[in-house]
Parts: sequence; structure tokens; C-alpha cells
Amino acid sequence: MTALQHVKLGAYYVAHLPEPDDFDFWRERARALVQCEVPPDRVAWVEPGGSGDLFAHGERRMPVPPADARPVRANWRFVSLAKNAILHSDSERFALLYRLLWRLQANPRMMEDKADPDVRRVEELARNVRRDSHKMHAFVRFRLVESEDEEVGDHYVAWFEPEHHILRANAGFFMRRFANMRWSILTPGGCLHWDGETMSEGPPAQVSDAPHGDPMEDLWRTYYASIFNPARLKVGAMLKEMPRKYWKNMPEAALIPGLIAGAQGREATMVEEGSLEFEDRPDTLDGIDRAIHACRKCPIGALDNHAVMGEGPQDAALMIVGEQPGDQEDLAGRPFVGPAGQLLDVHLENAGIERRRAYVTNTVKHFKYVQRGKRRLHQNPQAREIDTCRWWIEAERAIVKPKLVLAMGASAARGILGRTVSISKVRGSPIPLDDGSELWVTAHPSYLLRLDGAAREQQARLFDADLAVVRERLRELAA
Ligand code: URA
Repeated sequence: MTALQHVKLGAYYVAHLPEPDDFDFWRERARALVQCEVPPDRVAWVEPGGSGDLFAHGERRMPVPPADARPVRANWRFVSLAKNAILHSDSERFALLYRLLWRLQANPRMMEDKADPDVRRVEELARNVRRDSHKMHAFVRFRLVESEDEEVGDHYVAWFEPEHHILRANAGFFMRRFANMRWSILTPGGCLHWDGETMSEGPPAQVSDAPHGDPMEDLWRTYYASIFNPARLKVGAMLKEMPRKYWKNMPEAALIPGLIAGAQGREATMVEEGSLEFEDRPDTLDGIDRAIHACRKCPIGALDNHAVMGEGPQDAALMIVGEQPGDQEDLAGRPFVGPAGQLLDVHLENAGIERRRAYVTNTVKHFKYVQRGKRRLHQNPQAREIDTCRWWIEAERAIVKPKLVLAMGASAARGILGRTVSISKVRGSPIPLDDGSELWVTAHPSYLLRLDGAAREQQARLFDADLAVVRERLRELAA
């Protein structure tokens, strides 16, 4: 009997998945079933530990598609959602995906129907899984297990309770991030072990298998308390991002209630006293240059980077301010020499502004990045880091005394004003500054670099228009 005849006689298939997260296995079975025209209500999908006995009479051998079976249609959107959704803990997920795949054969545009209950459900499952992975990246905390044996070395162990079957899918993330550590992540569904070279898997663990508390936790708590910014505390948003159920495995969580309670008092004290304790402000550009190299007032200064000092004439009428040095600026020790700087040069020339007559600098003095393999990827500075670094840009302004400051991008504007402004709202008009100079705000050239086509042309025109106004204003101020 052929597979199709078998199906027509009302066969009922039971597909046993060897692993709860095995997309390739599901896909292979699902394709064969579609090609043999087995409708969704004639298939049961059973995951390990699932109730397979209910389907004792089902056919366990999968049907073999006929040689002339039509190819199975599955578009990119379906496959990318399915790869995530299959990691969900909902036992109905395999059946849902099969139903979608089945329906896709008759209606290839079905995934575009946002009102379809199956489409909505698979999107919801995929969203839940992405969120669970995001929480895992953020809340796994390793504890040190010291080893007497120097050859073996220290071992870092974390306990985590994911809601879905995301452990294996996230192995690569932790391997890249903690490539040089020997670590294990224990979960109730299985374990991952990395020895610096190979990844292996282990059976489910219990919370008692994981260590609790180690000397690193004190360090981590101290660090967390020091970066905690009471002025930016939003309790609702914080609880949404860091749900209470994760707190028990996070050393810093023990501090949270106390920090929240103390936040208002600390905010008032910060405002009153000024939150920074710097030495006297240097009164020469050389002095600032020396001091920023030693500055460790925020975590950016502690990265493997160099401070980049502003450059240009000390009596420049125009000060151009960027966000922070990039990779190339960090290596060259000069601001705006990389791709954003080259684009800036083109637009300055279009506007008739001579860069060599301007003082060019950044609001944050060090390059903030994350290491990805050999590459250092730019990270936006946080408001608190910009506010800390204001000390230096104010020192530069006090010496250069520009008549006009051009801030490129929101970070630069915050560095000058101490508050966040929307570029689209403030561009095109001057903002008076306390020392009698004026601030003009425009977009950052890196923003133009990230666009293409019509959007880039439009932003480039706005940028040119802002620079043309600045050039005219400089002429008026010089007259
Ligand atoms: N981006 C900036 O904001 N500053 C630089 O110096 C380079 C790129």
C-alpha cells in the first residue's frame, strides 16, 4: 500500500520528537507528512516526557513521500518564526506549526494575515521565546568555584530557570561572551559546560547542584550600588525588565529594595552637592589632555582604550562637538578621523567652513565599545556617562571660549546642555548658553552613514542646511 492510500484509509500518525527543541527533526517529519497529504488532524506530535500512550494506536512509522511529490512551500517569515516558536514550552507548538505549514501550501501569503489566529499565536510564541533569551543573557550570574588544581583552573557556575527550551539555542552567545572562562550553566532542563575549547551538554540539574555566593558577588554588589543612579529610577520599568522571579539568582537583587528606598534621598543629595568629585579643573588644554587620560570616573575609562583630546586653535570661534571617539579615533588619538569624520569633512567643505579653524572635540572622551571577536563595536554612552564627562567639555569651553558651539547628535547636545533634547525640535535655532555663546544642534554624521537612498539624501540636505546657517551666523558674530 502506498503512503497516500494509507492516509486515505484514515491512518493516524504519531511523531515522537527526540528533543523538545529539535527544529530540523520536526521540519523533516512535517515535510514528509505534507507531501503525503496527511491533514493536521491526523497527526499527533509528542515531545520527550509527553503523553505518547494516548496515541497508542497511531502509526509510528512516518509515511514516505512518493517520488513525484510536490515540493513543500515555506517562506522565510514562517521558517524564522517557527525556529523560535519551536523552543516554546507550549506542548501544542508542533501541531500549530504543522497546521500553519499545511495551510501555507494552499495560501502562500497566509503569514501576512495579521488577524489569523494561528499566525498571531505563532508570533506570540516566538516573541515569548525571544524575551526569555533576552532575560537569560541579562540575568545569568556565574559564581566562582575555586579549584586547588592549577591545571584545571577556576570554574564559574550559574543556575538559571528558563521558561522555554532556550538553553541550547543560547550556547553560542555564552561561548562568545565568556570564551576564556571555564563555565557551566545549570538548568532544570539540562546543562551546558564550556571548558574554553569545547561545549558539552549534561542532564537536568537542581538548584542545590549550583554554588551560592562567592567573593565576586561582593564586588558585583559594590559595582552595582555605585552605578545605580537614583535620578533615573523608574520602579515600574525596572520590574518589567527585571522580573522578581529572577532576583533569587542575582547577587545585586538583595540591594534593590534598599536602593529604591534610599533613592529619593540620594537624588536630593546628588543635586545639592553635585555628584562628581574631581580635582581642580585644569586651566590649560594640555592639562585637560593629561587629566582625561587618567580619568576613571565612569566604566568607559576603564576599557582598553585611550582618551582622545579635542584639537584645533585655542581661540577658535567655532567648537564642533561629537559624541565620543570611535575605533579609528581611539587608535589615532585624534577626533573625527574615521568614516564619520571623513563625511563631516565633506559637508564642512560644502558649507564653506574650514575645519582647521574650528576646535573639534567630543562630549565623551573615551571610546565605549563591546568586543566581538576581533572587532570593537561602538556602544552609545549612557546619560550618566555623558553627564560625568561634562566636566571635561566644560573645561575645554572655558579655555577655548567659542562664540558658537555646534553639537552633532543627541549625546553631544546633552553634553553641553546637561539635559536631553530632540534634534528635530531644536535644530535650526540657537540655544543661548550661560557664558554668552550659543549652541546649535544638528544630526551626527554617523546617523547619515547608517541611512541610504532617499532617506540619506534628505538627511544630508538637512545637515548641509544646518551647516550653512552656522557659517552665516559665524560671519555675523565675527562682524
Ligand atoms: N564619532 C564621534 O562622535 N566622534 C568622533 O571623534 C568620531 C566619530
